[in-house]
Amino acid sequence: MVKWIVQLKQSLAAAIATLTANKVPSPRLNGELLLMFALGCDRAYLFAHPERELTNDEAARYEAALSERSRGVPAQYITGHQEFWGMDLIVTPAVLIPRPETEHLVETVLALQGPKGRIADVGTGSGCIALAFAKELPQAEIHATDISPAALEIARANAARYQFETRIQFHQTDLLHGLRPPFDIIVSNPPYVGESEEDQVQLEVRKFEPRSAVFSGLGGTEVIARLIPQAQALLRPGGWLVLEVSGTIVDQVRDLLAGWNDVRVIRDLQSIPRVVRAQRPA
Ligand SMILES: C[S@@+](CC[C@H](N)C(=O)[O-])C[C@H]1O[C@@H](n2cnc3c(N)ncnc32)[C@H](O)[C@@H]1O
Repeated sequence: MVKWIVQLKQSLAAAIATLTANKVPSPRLNGELLLMFALGCDRAYLFAHPERELTNDEAARYEAALSERSRGVPAQYITGHQEFWGMDLIVTPAVLIPRPETEHLVETVLALQGPKGRIADVGTGSGCIALAFAKELPQAEIHATDISPAALEIARANAARYQFETRIQFHQTDLLHGLRPPFDIIVSNPPYVGESEEDQVQLEVRKFEPRSAVFSGLGGTEVIARLIPQAQALLRPGGWLVLEVSGTIVDQVRDLLAGWNDVRVIRDLQSIPRVVRAQRPA
């Protein structure tokens, strides 16, 4: 019987060809990432050992991961990991994959808030935002809500991974329902894509990320429109509401914040309106 010996560099080259043929964006990056996952190694190892032979198990694992990626499954759902705010977080299809743009939300809050205070993260998903505050604000009281029990399970696992179990109080609830006021900060990256724009959303997002994490009514502002009055009721006078938005809904969100103080829009690195912050009037 002939035993096929496949070296790491050949495997990677074949993978890049397969991913390219299947129109996966950034095929080299994806090929490397999934190879690191299949081998349980880092990038430096890949480059240091191009002639290393893959075991049958490793080759099978790589094959399976490539086939998932080729049908559009995001790499993070295959590897089960995504980095956010310098932390390695667990992700599954129960949660939205944390995006780098969401770090602007964290930065905005950190610029407003001293080390103490009560903060609520609404729609916590993987828990990424709440975990960033647990890391940066050691004296803050942090609450995190989600309507999805499956998402909260992942958020709790991520909190445990960084020994933040006692720093974050998780609540399964609709937005802020049942939380005790007053809060200094209410922050949310809510679902904000309109069902009417569905065909403009990347196929990978549409097919594989949780619908309830992405879409919010026909126009995209349904959840935010319900959240604003709830936040107004629970924030202390002078407290801040900080929301992630898109360029599509930013003007509507400004309108919904009529009567709030110091409403400001913060753009991301691509100059797209990304965060809206507003201060509750006295
Ligand atoms: C866009 S994702 C954000 C997840 C995470 N905070 C992040 O930034 O990656 C929105 C989250 O809001 C949750 N969600 C949707 N509707 C909700 C509601 N009515 N009450 C609480 N959470 C809700 C979804 O389950 C999802 O986890």
